[in-house]
Amino acid sequence: MEKNLKRTTYAGLVDEAYLDQTVVLKGWVQKRRDLGSLIFIDLRDREGIVQLVFSEEYSQAALAVADQLRNEYVIEVQGQVVARADKEVNADMRTGKVEVRVTGINLLNKSKALPFDIKDDLNASDELRLQYRYLDLRRPEMQRAIRLRNRIIQSVHSYFDNNGFIDIETPNLTKSTPEGARDYLVPSRIYPGHFYALPQSPQLFKQLLMGSGFDRYYQIARCFRDEDLRGDRQPEFTQIDLETSFLTAEEIQDLTEGLIAKVMKDTLNVDVKLPFQRMDWDDSMARYGTDQPDVRFGMELKDLSEMMADTDFKVFSGAVANGGQVKAIAVPGGADLYSRKDLDKYGKYIERFGAKGLAWLKVTDDGFSGPIAKFFKEGDWFDQITAATDAKSGDLLLFAADSKRVVAQTLGYLRVAIAKEQDMIDENKWAFLWIVNWPLFDYDVDLERWVPAHHPFTMPAEGDAHYLNDGEDPHKAYAQSYDIILNGLELGGGSIRIHTRELQMKMLKALGFTPERAESQFGFLLKALDYGFPPHGGLAIGLDRFARLLAKRDNIRDVIAFPKNSKATEPMTEAPTTVADKQLLDLDLLIAKKDAPTED
Ligand code: AMO
Ligand code: AMP
Repeated sequence: MEKNLKRTTYAGLVDEAYLDQTVVLKGWVQKRRDLGSLIFIDLRDREGIVQLVFSEEYSQAALAVADQLRNEYVIEVQGQVVARADKEVNADMRTGKVEVRVTGINLLNKSKALPFDIKDDLNASDELRLQYRYLDLRRPEMQRAIRLRNRIIQSVHSYFDNNGFIDIETPNLTKSTPEGARDYLVPSRIYPGHFYALPQSPQLFKQLLMGSGFDRYYQIARCFRDEDLRGDRQPEFTQIDLETSFLTAEEIQDLTEGLIAKVMKDTLNVDVKLPFQRMDWDDSMARYGTDQPDVRFGMELKDLSEMMADTDFKVFSGAVANGGQVKAIAVPGGADLYSRKDLDKYGKYIERFGAKGLAWLKVTDDGFSGPIAKFFKEGDWFDQITAATDAKSGDLLLFAADSKRVVAQTLGYLRVAIAKEQDMIDENKWAFLWIVNWPLFDYDVDLERWVPAHHPFTMPAEGDAHYLNDGEDPHKAYAQSYDIILNGLELGGGSIRIHTRELQMKMLKALGFTPERAESQFGFLLKALDYGFPPHGGLAIGLDRFARLLAKRDNIRDVIAFPKNSKATEPMTEAPTTVADKQLLDLDLLIAKKDAPTED
């Protein structure tokens, strides 16, 4: 076969429309079946697989080459598209009714035996997949996921362009400013001892662009955060980032809904119903125990605190007396689903939230059963409790009695864990909703101090700015901020921002900044606010999370071409690595060896 003939189509697109035509195809050997005088090859490219047939009847030379082919060899072939015999037809494949009789072939490259097969549902370890990521990405499900991500990006660009947004890049080498996570630092060669930080988000730059009068900014922006990794977190990730001037929180939410509706339509052909539900943060915490509720199923938390204030069961009455709560969820049909042993296991698990135990009652036709049933036998306890929890005979009631925070975390966790375990979640639903009216501050139990619930540039709720005045309690303030949730996961968040120096300074003060530290960290922003800064606000959606949910994958790694593993390393390149002494010298850096692995 003549070399470098122009490809006529993709292997995966060869169907009946090509019958009797001569095609030129290029791709990888997925599979070889050798019947001696007849060899079948599955040829794969990005669009799929087509069956090639080699026989001495079509070309003796091609048959000889086919004899040497192994998995993942790269070939180009020329041949004629013919119909398969009826019994050979594979109706599930686009190319399943045809095959290509090969008259010419060139072997373009060979492949070693592979570390894992190029197929979906493989059971290679994640680490091996990442080590050979380029092979992993050949697999159809990975190709689909990465191409879905591309569809989202194209849809996003088109939406923003149609709505008057301007795509503006912001720096990746920037100043270290606190945004919640730890910064990745980049040493400066020219200024020894000085560091750039990689941006945790374009937050301050996009606000400054509002000060510049661009009015509507967007960017698909890479962000960097040195934080503990989980399934939905990566050290570098991508945001669909936007900022606008002169719009209200509701108007920004409407624009975001339009974006999401377009992406859902363009990528999955799903029509989502607008507007999305808006739920107050207080409501979400009370009903779901979390600020990212999965509303695809019920089992809401019910507050029994008042009722339990005078029960003889001291665990309950004691919690209420201490200013805490007693809440419960009713697991439909749960009485038969969970044994005492299962419940003990959950009781152990929830200790990580600070819970001291898991009290439960099974609802039967003859009242409650279970170890604490004895406390609720007399009087109208049964009617009161079942009415308050909507529980029916056969249901299981799970109780948490503790501080508001522990109760929310415990029951919020159990609600979701049990729904997953019992297949109560309709995986075909797209449950978007807004969580609005957040508190301005959140108490961080690990840091033991108040931190911004969103970030320090968030505008207090209408009428709540006075809480930032001296002598008032700032932690009472609510915020003009909003999160968008999809299927129980925070997809994005944003807020109206502070646009005056005076209020920004009060906010920083409430966070414990001295005027000097405020100036040294945020002086450039504060100064900008002095020069006719417009009211503004915006939002950022996590692109990786969005793509992961649309692709129905478990981990955002599966929608990122070259992600880090759960230890923040990249197994293929082995980054991070040590660097040459000369590089360190150039940067005037010395490595303190205290935590380095020892040589011997
Ligand atoms: P926030 O910090 O809430 O807001 O981030 C916005 C969204 O980005 C995604 N996200 C992540 N995705 C993957 N890995 C991570 N480590 C990670 N961290 C965050 C989430 C999250 O909802 N500047 C503000 C936005 C604004 O106010 O406009 C910001 O960054 O989906
Ligand atoms: P006790 O009286 O301590 O044996 O507890 C009786 C039941 O209440 C056990 O099932 C405990 O797991 C449970 N329990 C104990 N403390 C709490 C709590 N704070 N909230 C909910 N259940 C609890």
